Amino acid sequence: MTDFARLAEDIAREAGDMLLAKRPTMSGVVETKSSPTDVVTALDRASEELIRSRVRAARPGDRFLGEEGGEEGGEEGGSSGVRWIVDPIDGTVNFLYGLPEWAVSIAVEVDGEVVAGVVNVAPRGEVFTAALGEGAWLGGERLRCNTGVPLAGALVATGFGYGAARRAVQGEVVASVLPRVRDIRRGGSCAIDLCSVAAGRVDGYYERGVNHWDFAAAGLVATEAGARLGGLHGRPANSELLLCAAPGLFEELHDLLAGLDPERDA
Ligand code: IPD
Ligand code: CA
Ligand code: CA
Repeated sequence: MTDFARLAEDIAREAGDMLLAKRPTMSGVVETKSSPTDVVTALDRASEELIRSRVRAARPGDRFLGEEGGEEGGEEGGSSGVRWIVDPIDGTVNFLYGLPEWAVSIAVEVDGEVVAGVVNVAPRGEVFTAALGEGAWLGGERLRCNTGVPLAGALVATGFGYGAARRAVQGEVVASVLPRVRDIRRGGSCAIDLCSVAAGRVDGYYERGVNHWDFAAAGLVATEAGARLGGLHGRPANSELLLCAAPGLFEELHDLLAGLDPERDA
């Protein structure tokens, strides 16, 4: 493992342990964000603060992007070329309801390229790690995504945003995808969905509206496990659409989605 992956893993484990210890008494909603169902708890903030302070102590010259606190320059405006990209709890609604599908996600980017990614699915005791060119791992097991699965046999994960108008479009799109695939899963965490592609627990994943902090770490886990990650029409994965599957299935899923105009507004 690289030094970045090791440091990210130590910090993600510490944040996950803190969240597991405090969730029983402190998971109440503190605020809503983009819509009445888009919530942030005190523990989303506490997790990000913990991660920020550990990164600042270990790597004071690095930049930091966190979902809750935004972008921070580091000393001398982030002179190191390194940026940490953090979702302190991915799957906040699951966290709130006591479902075991949430994770701490930490990625390290060097000169704009993600080189290390860690997704700590703390309630399951599973830590996914990846380093660029070094593979993706779950504990001691090297991950490989499923290959050779045709669209009609594919188990496909997806997710929905927090805004009602966008959801209406997402509902139309998924209604057209459903009859063409084995089945659909909606787990509630983009990071875990991508790790599930890496581990062969689903065959593919797509979603509109995810942010860099949702997919930076788990995207590397998936690609290091052999999956292809991208957007529509050859674009890199982005907030308009993210698609992930083994090559072959990626193209089939891409063509199906492209024909459904999933980036349109209601
Ligand atoms: C959300 C989860 C969810 C996805 C949403 C994300 P959050 O992140 O990843 O699965 O469908 O698009 O916003 O709010 O739990 O950090
Ligand atoms: Ca998220
Ligand atoms: Ca979050």
